[in-house]
Amino acid sequence: MIIRPEIIEDIKSRNDIETVISSYVRLKRAGSNLNGLCPFHSEKTPSFTVFPATQSFYCFGCGAGGDVITFVMRTENVDYVTAVRILAERSGITIPDENVSSYSKGVSRQRILDMNREAAKFFHAALLDEKTGAEARRYLLDERKLSMAVVNHFGLGYAPNSFGAVHDHLKKAGFTDEEMITGFLCGKSNNGTVYDYFRNRVIFPIIDVSGNVVAFGGRVMDNSLPKYLNTSDTPAFKKSKNLFALNFAKDKCADMLILCEGYMDVIALHAAGFEFAVATLGTAITQEQARIFSRYTKKVVISYDSDEAGQRAADKAFKYLQEVGLDVKILKMNGAKDPDEYIKKFGSEKFAGLLDDSKSRFQFEIEKILSKYDIANTDEKVKASYEICKILSTFTSEVERDVYAHKVSEILKIPKQSILKDVERIMRKKNSDAKKNFRNEIYRNTSGFADRVNPESVSNMKACRTEEAILGLMQLKAELLKKAVSELTADDFVTSFNKKVFEKISEAYKEYGKFDIAFISDSFSVDETSRVTKMLVTRERLDNNGEEIMSELIKSLKEEKSNENTGSIDDILDIISRKKQED
Ligand code: GTP
Ligand code: MN
Repeated sequence: MIIRPEIIEDIKSRNDIETVISSYVRLKRAGSNLNGLCPFHSEKTPSFTVFPATQSFYCFGCGAGGDVITFVMRTENVDYVTAVRILAERSGITIPDENVSSYSKGVSRQRILDMNREAAKFFHAALLDEKTGAEARRYLLDERKLSMAVVNHFGLGYAPNSFGAVHDHLKKAGFTDEEMITGFLCGKSNNGTVYDYFRNRVIFPIIDVSGNVVAFGGRVMDNSLPKYLNTSDTPAFKKSKNLFALNFAKDKCADMLILCEGYMDVIALHAAGFEFAVATLGTAITQEQARIFSRYTKKVVISYDSDEAGQRAADKAFKYLQEVGLDVKILKMNGAKDPDEYIKKFGSEKFAGLLDDSKSRFQFEIEKILSKYDIANTDEKVKASYEICKILSTFTSEVERDVYAHKVSEILKIPKQSILKDVERIMRKKNSDAKKNFRNEIYRNTSGFADRVNPESVSNMKACRTEEAILGLMQLKAELLKKAVSELTADDFVTSFNKKVFEKISEAYKEYGKFDIAFISDSFSVDETSRVTKMLVTRERLDNNGEEIMSELIKSLKEEKSNENTGSIDDILDIISRKKQED
């Protein structure tokens, strides 16, 4: 790789794909993703999709895809290195001479932690300062109704309304510009001026379980935007691996942890005596964070905002937390948008009641359905039962399906066996739909254009599908990446393009212990990178992305390899006969 991986990671973390693409394309939220009209081909209905979770984009119309760097390569029509430079400039960092390896390696984690501690003291003193902190104190104490004790407990602060206050202070304390920029306390403008990153904001220090100040969040005190600024990843901080207030919650969470969305929710909960509340840092929960939860407790109550976005996010969080074996409940609030507001309006005892009432996802969804239908009416009962069966069909464990079918049969007064039969029917239908889609795609691929990126795919359709599924999963989950790299070799791959992709991903993994598409995209053309991203987004849209599926795929690829080319003949005959039928 031409540019060092930590620089690329840093640049990517400071250039959120949604923000960058939004300045070129009008995006509309669709579930957890965003849609818009594709800038790379002309279309009337949006098939261009941005996936914030994997920081990638893909157009289901023309097949263009990749990460934020590839996006800039395509829109600005520049090469890889130039695209990285454009993004670096956009986020106010300068890439040192490619051969100089001073960046971020030169700034140690310990220096950043020392600097953060100094900055936290500075912010806190500014808040307490009679004059400088007056407005911020009014905001926190009067408007947000926090007590001084809570302000001190969390070490809240204020970043003065100045471009140089933090910089000057840290400089006097012996820190360099490079350290301030790397630590995300300062940015560097195009003309080289170093300026304070947090200005006129109340500051929430983020403290890890060892008591280090690892990062900061800063909130405006009015309605201006962005509402929050957060430290991006630095050598001392990884957003996806930290939880706000875990330093306090870790000693109080024997029974459970509460997961909320916002800093203010956590602070309000702690102030009300629920000192086992934590929040992710301005992003959806990651699998790494789910694992942190499982290290500290057995049970998590998700207490997200009551709006639709919050509830959607809760579903995703539910999934990740359950995957790591936690007992997960969802708390439902009425009459307030978030826990902070709820406690202010109704008090902590009422909130404790909600905690006791919190439901499992299944109960939660069942209640939603039952409230929609009148089950005394046979027609409506049938509809309700169908919707419930659809939910049950998404449960992968047979035991779970059985247990819940039993509950449902009691509520609806329908025999359990009939419910399970319906569930199985829905599962079979889903399966056959998936097969049909697969056929259709083969048909399109072979009857339309040859595959220029992977010309061998047409004659090795089945192996190619397996390979793409494996390569997609490797990009999606770190543990599956590890598994594939240890259980497969490049020679297991049938088609040479996919073989090269596997080689590049493995090389990156062996060298850096992880993978990011940006580590390999300088070895591929933009169309090839698009294909690699397609593999990722195809998997991301499916539910079943666990260990077992990877094992099956690996097994099936090895079998495929041992009878190379034989499996595909049926496919081709099938395609030909279908094509005849259609002509
Ligand atoms: P209040 O309005 O102060 O009550 O904030 P909140 O904590 O309820 O925040 P909200 O529900 O709006 O958002 C939840 C969390 O998402 C916040 O605590 C932040 O961590 C994060 N967040 C919100 N807005 C932004 C933003 O504009 N940029 C970033 N990076 N993060 C944000
Ligand atoms: Mn709030």
